[in-house]
Amino acid sequence: MVKLTPLLEDVAKLSVAEQQLPYVGTIDEVLINADENTHPHIVLNDEQVIGIFLIDMLYPQSYEFAESGSLGFRAFLIDQRQQGQGYGGKVMSQLRDYLVQHYPSHHSIYLTVNCKNATAYQCYVKNGFHDTKECYLGGAAGPQHIMLMKLHT
Ligand SMILES: CC(C)(COP(=O)(O)OP(=O)(O)OC[C@H]1O[C@@H](n2cnc3c(N)ncnc32)[C@H](O)[C@@H]1OP(=O)(O)O)[C@@H](O)C(=O)NCCC(=O)NCCS
Repeated sequence: MVKLTPLLEDVAKLSVAEQQLPYVGTIDEVLINADENTHPHIVLNDEQVIGIFLIDMLYPQSYEFAESGSLGFRAFLIDQRQQGQGYGGKVMSQLRDYLVQHYPSHHSIYLTVNCKNATAYQCYVKNGFHDTKECYLGGAAGPQHIMLMKLHT
């Protein structure tokens, strides 16, 4: 059956607050990074698009700290009108099982989060990522915590 859906139109409407742009960029900037090795994943609440993240299969090639066989979690955002309602935490609490299902040959996932981004840091650390206590200094908006989650525990 052929079905038409405005899903991508809704994805294009996702946005974050002006002061959050240094952490993730605009949705156009997120989508331009998607390709065959950097996969966009959409967050739906019921039928509504409320967020997006990228899974980077070549993360260890871009970041020296990442072990080979690991994934990268990038560009996570919940639309600004939906933030602070627990959706980010719910996404993160499902992430390990979701990745094991979709990327079974990868053993772990890394992310970096700006040291000033307390909301995102809390969202990650409360839901399975641990702080490696190392910092990544190559980000455009200042130092970032390097965080890691093992997928097969
Ligand atoms: C980071 C983000 C994805 C979190 O999504 P969210 O739906 O707003 O998060 P939640 O409502 O699930 O809150 C997650 C945790 O953040 C913490 N938190 C919320 N607001 C906070 C604040 N102002 N300061 C510190 N911690 C805060 C809470 O501890 C909460 O955990 P709890 O539910 O156990 O109380 C979202 O805020 C976002 O899109 N931000 C802009 C883009 C961004 O910064 N992305 C991360 C790039 S690394």
